[in-house]
Amino acid sequence: MNLKIDLSTSGITGDVRALLAEDCQAAKEKLWSGREDFTGWVSLPEKLTCDPANELQAELADLKKTAEEIRAKCELFVVTGIGGSYMGAKCVIDAICAHEDTDGAEVVFAGCNMSAAYHREIISKMREKETCLCVISKSGGTTEPLAAFSILKEVMSEKYGDEATSRIYAITDKETGRLRAESDEAGYKTFIVPDDIGGRYSVLTPVGLLPIAVAGIDVDALIEGAKDMAIDPGWKEDAASYAVTRVALSRSGKWIEIFEYFHPELEFFAEWLKQLFGESEGKEGKGIFPASLMFSRDLHSMGQFIQQGKQMFFETMIIIEDRGEDILIPESAGAPLAGKSLEQINGCAIKGVAAAHTKAGVPVIKIYLPKMDAYNMGQLIYFFEMTCGIAAYISGVNPFDQPGVEAYKAEMRAEIEKL
Ligand code: PA5
Repeated sequence: MNLKIDLSTSGITGDVRALLAEDCQAAKEKLWSGREDFTGWVSLPEKLTCDPANELQAELADLKKTAEEIRAKCELFVVTGIGGSYMGAKCVIDAICAHEDTDGAEVVFAGCNMSAAYHREIISKMREKETCLCVISKSGGTTEPLAAFSILKEVMSEKYGDEATSRIYAITDKETGRLRAESDEAGYKTFIVPDDIGGRYSVLTPVGLLPIAVAGIDVDALIEGAKDMAIDPGWKEDAASYAVTRVALSRSGKWIEIFEYFHPELEFFAEWLKQLFGESEGKEGKGIFPASLMFSRDLHSMGQFIQQGKQMFFETMIIIEDRGEDILIPESAGAPLAGKSLEQINGCAIKGVAAAHTKAGVPVIKIYLPKMDAYNMGQLIYFFEMTCGIAAYISGVNPFDQPGVEAYKAEMRAEIEKL
């Protein structure tokens, strides 16, 4: 396993973790049993790689071919979706495109907010560039992406006339929902969101894979990373130890987990983590509130609170070890910076922050990624999904529903009716 986790400064000892060993074992068995609703993502990487007869492999081949066709005919790929129907693709694309010259189409996301200014910018890009449009909604009825899709579809029709249909793609349920009915009627090329996988666990389904492939990222490597994590005997223990440590920390009054990163291209990875943990664990009056900070930036703002403020949190640092091509600091910077590189200074920030916060009594967990590429990203995604599932089951909540999200939807619909 390439990913490494360091729990030595978490403040939770092996003895404390042992107290939760039975609950943890039960959680792992439940997750891996294949009997629980919405746990299809657990065996998905293996199905996509190890069993050529599995129909998901034929769908993956079709998806890669379609991505090639999209790349050949457009410079801009507009993806309309919200929550799990956009966050995973965005986090992978942002992280990997910062480290690799991927030569794919530009991928932008719409329908994740209802800002007219935001969408006006996308529309003017669509008018300038060769464009394809993709709408993603598992339920096929979510207000924000469907509102944005209606607008962007018209932009496509104005620009391409009848040809627009062959430039529009939909990813939704195989049978139900408004989007399925519309796609079948209009004749859009569609991909299916599997029944047994929920939004925030769907990065390795067409929901994440189509935009990621169109961006030029190696989706086989992404899936391979997740699969290697899934079959490695050590991974389960690492994910379980992290899950147990989180639960133990929350029970000792640390109700906030701050995901911290030292590379801005991980901003959306942290957003994805916040969705994954927040929506999976935050229910029935339980859960660990997921927050995120970007360092060094936030050391000069929130760093004060972490060092000396009310201690109700723990930190999980995501550290990329091989940080790629570096930049040397010139002689004019003077001592001690001259002759060092930016990433060397970044490395000192990582060590310095961990030391300072540990000395202040803040529990610090470190997760090391050898380098940022599709393979390691696949590992990271699967590792966090597994941790989240185990931790939620230990806490006694269902990691795969989100009943609370419905409340705002109903209120918003009532407000829309009043307009
Ligand atoms: O994780 C989830 O299930 C949610 O975040 C959904 O992905 C989000 O609400 C969007 O739903 P849909 O894909 O049905 O439009």
